[in-house]
Amino acid sequence: MQTWAIIAQKGGQSKTTLATGFAVEAAREGAAVVILDADDRQGSALYWSERRDDNDVMVKDSSIAGLPLHISRGRASGKIDLIIIDTPANSKDIAMLAAEQADFVIIPVAPRGLDVHSVLQTVKQVQQAGTPFAVILTQVPHQGGEGQEARAGFAAKGVTLFDSRLHFRKDFYKATPLGRTAVETEPDGKAAGELRSAYYEAKRLSGYANNLISEDV
Ligand SMILES: Nc1ncnc2c1ncn2[C@@H]1O[C@H](COP(=O)(O)OP(=O)(O)O)[C@@H](O)[C@H]1O
Ligand SMILES: [Mg+2]
Repeated sequence: MQTWAIIAQKGGQSKTTLATGFAVEAAREGAAVVILDADDRQGSALYWSERRDDNDVMVKDSSIAGLPLHISRGRASGKIDLIIIDTPANSKDIAMLAAEQADFVIIPVAPRGLDVHSVLQTVKQVQQAGTPFAVILTQVPHQGGEGQEARAGFAAKGVTLFDSRLHFRKDFYKATPLGRTAVETEPDGKAAGELRSAYYEAKRLSGYANNLISEDV
């Protein structure tokens, strides 16, 4: 079993979009996947799952105190392949705990000047936890050099950056309120392609083996 945490101290950086998007991709591959939703505000993974018809992805409400227990129980059960922790904005405590509990941390950042600056704070916290991590650019504008600038900035700081990125695309924000992902609503669209590439890269960077428990039994 692997645990991924999606962490960004700023809101609206695509944390929940990635948590739900990756969870659905893993489930489509046959993995038993659980999202631990540590964000109790609207727009969280729980809200997404309430609107979802399929029950292939289990979303569990988790308080900060409950995170370690949920993860150790998941491991002990021998029945979970992947846990994804979706975290709230503006909570250093939850971010730290999630980073400590995870095997791999994904830090999404929408490259608008200020957001790139604030993400360095998140990067420092995750570095303190000592967990491997990588930054992924999200909501990248189709025009202007923000994506390239951000890429160069992170590279200069020695921070691992996903090669894949999510551009700003309406397929992403249209899928969320339907409890679905862009891969499900527009499988041949560009958003779907980006989400799939990001998922494959997350698997590669994290070392998540496709040796599924659900296939062993
Ligand atoms: N790449 C994208 N393009 C367009 N809209 C996006 C993209 N990623 C996320 N969104 C939308 O932006 C909003 C915030 O994204 P969300 O994943 O909820 O961020 P967070 O969980 O970090 O607060 C949501 O309405 C979501 O559908
Ligand atoms: Mg969220």
